[in-house]
Amino acid sequence: MRTSIAFFACVSSVLAQAPSLTDLIASQPDLSTIGAALGSVPDLAETLAGLSNITILAPTNSAFEALLAQEDTPESVAVNSSDMQAIAAILAYHVLNGTYVSSDFSETPAFVSSLFLPSFDGSIRTNVTDGQNVGLLLDGENATILSGELKSANVIEADIQAANSVTVHKIDTVLTVPRNASTTLSKVPDVEVTAALGALTAASLVETIDSVADLTIFVPNNDAFTTAASAFANASIETLTNVLTYHAVTGAVAFSSDITNTTVKTVNGNDLTLSVGVDGTVYVDNAKVVLANIILSNGVAHIIDTVLNPEDEIENPTPAATPTPAFPGATAIGTDVPYTSALGAAPTAGTASSAPAPTPSPSEFPGAAVQVKGALGGAVIGLGLAMML
Ligand SMILES: *[C@@H]1O[C@H](CO)[C@@H](O)[C@H](O)[C@H]1NC(C)=O
Ligand SMILES: *[C@@H]1O[C@H](CO)[C@@H](O)[C@H](O)[C@H]1NC(C)=O
Ligand SMILES: *[C@@H]1O[C@H](CO)[C@@H](O)[C@H](O)[C@H]1NC(C)=O
Ligand SMILES: *[C@@H]1O[C@H](CO)[C@@H](O)[C@H](O)[C@H]1NC(C)=O
Ligand SMILES: *[C@@H]1O[C@H](CO)[C@@H](O)[C@H](O)[C@H]1NC(C)=O
Ligand SMILES: *[C@@H]1O[C@H](CO)[C@@H](O)[C@H](O)[C@H]1NC(C)=O
Ligand SMILES: *[C@@H]1O[C@H](CO)[C@@H](O)[C@H](O)[C@H]1NC(C)=O
Ligand SMILES: *[C@@H]1O[C@H](CO)[C@@H](O)[C@H](O)[C@H]1NC(C)=O
Repeated sequence: MRTSIAFFACVSSVLAQAPSLTDLIASQPDLSTIGAALGSVPDLAETLAGLSNITILAPTNSAFEALLAQEDTPESVAVNSSDMQAIAAILAYHVLNGTYVSSDFSETPAFVSSLFLPSFDGSIRTNVTDGQNVGLLLDGENATILSGELKSANVIEADIQAANSVTVHKIDTVLTVPRNASTTLSKVPDVEVTAALGALTAASLVETIDSVADLTIFVPNNDAFTTAASAFANASIETLTNVLTYHAVTGAVAFSSDITNTTVKTVNGNDLTLSVGVDGTVYVDNAKVVLANIILSNGVAHIIDTVLNPEDEIENPTPAATPTPAFPGATAIGTDVPYTSALGAAPTAGTASSAPAPTPSPSEFPGAAVQVKGALGGAVIGLGLAMML
């Protein structure tokens, strides 16, 4: 009897006093690699030790082994070459600002902020003011983490508690830190968007969409450009710029879960009408989002099935299986995919190179309350996360 009282007393004291994050990681043999990585960036480790209500997505040793076995990625190069700045950025992307336990994962993905902030400097960067995003999704039975380039990781052991309300989930893959828009869009699986990339190149907008802060961009797929080819056959760079900037919103990173029936001012200055159908499908004017939530280094991209027309502002979109053409009368020109010849080719003299890139101004995004928290960037430096860099 006395033994079992002592036993329960012992158990309850263990429950009352969860181990420190450092001790917890040290106690898990399959987390020795991330333990060593944190040891190599002591300022980050120290910052984490001082935080509460955070969630650590801890890749296991085999996740790191798999990373180094694959072809070069920014993550594998950083780890292999012991690039401390890059390792700190990668690890910060694995720390969520908030407590997210396994019961918080649902079939509707939720996008939450990590501690990877624009104040990190180095080869791996973000321009998402409130912290680069990570998606949480229940995929069948698996709690899944969504990261850059639509890459995902599975939680293999959830809800391990450390002191200070720190939650640790072991994951089976190192997360992919989101790349810039042009890099990401050139690799979207199963979707061709080379026409949109070519059009952005022709309009000298690639650098802008790769670097502007807090971007939401709607990217028409190749079918969308192909069916409207005649509208672009003789379009000036000015017209093209006008059309493309109508697809972008800055100052807010809006994932599908943030979008409600609303209008939003685009970089072009005209309003886009957003709506969510009863089945959750998101419509932008009359275009349908066919692939949502592609995380970018500076925001998010959604692939749509129609090129949006800034001259054709839609008041009451009517979601339909076949979208109403945004460019009335426009037709395909054979199998021609507009702007795909601009990719990799030098811009034609007097056209692309002379077009001034517009300066996007931040716009309000009423539906995206979760992400639009105002400028917190300044507060972050005080945390010391960036100080070592
Ligand atoms: C941590 O989260 C708990 C529960 O949500 C909350 O009561 C507490 O105030 C939070 N602590 C901090 C420091 O944010
Ligand atoms: C790691 O770096 C070494 C030496 O720089 C190189 O030979 C090796 O191919 C690299 N491995 C990976 C997986 O990048
Ligand atoms: C974490 O979130 C809180 C509440 O939203 C915010 O005040 C704080 O600045 C965030 N911390 C970081 C490092 O982003
Ligand atoms: C669930 O996660 C496990 C562990 O990573 C993996 O082996 C399995 O294929 C996943 N299942 C699905 C449906 O993705
Ligand atoms: C986008 O990323 C690629 C690959 O890292 C890089 O070569 C390119 O310079 C980046 N673009 C901008 C504008 O930073
Ligand atoms: C982040 O966005 C700001 C505002 O658009 C821009 O001035 C800055 O160059 C961007 N930083 C990076 C690393 O792209
Ligand atoms: C584009 O301009 C050329 C030359 O002016 C003309 O022949 C052609 O029909 C135009 N194409 C379209 C689709 O308007
Ligand atoms: C949003 O708009 C769509 C399309 O007009 C409509 O079907 C839906 O009921 C609206 N949702 C709400 C919550 O008003």
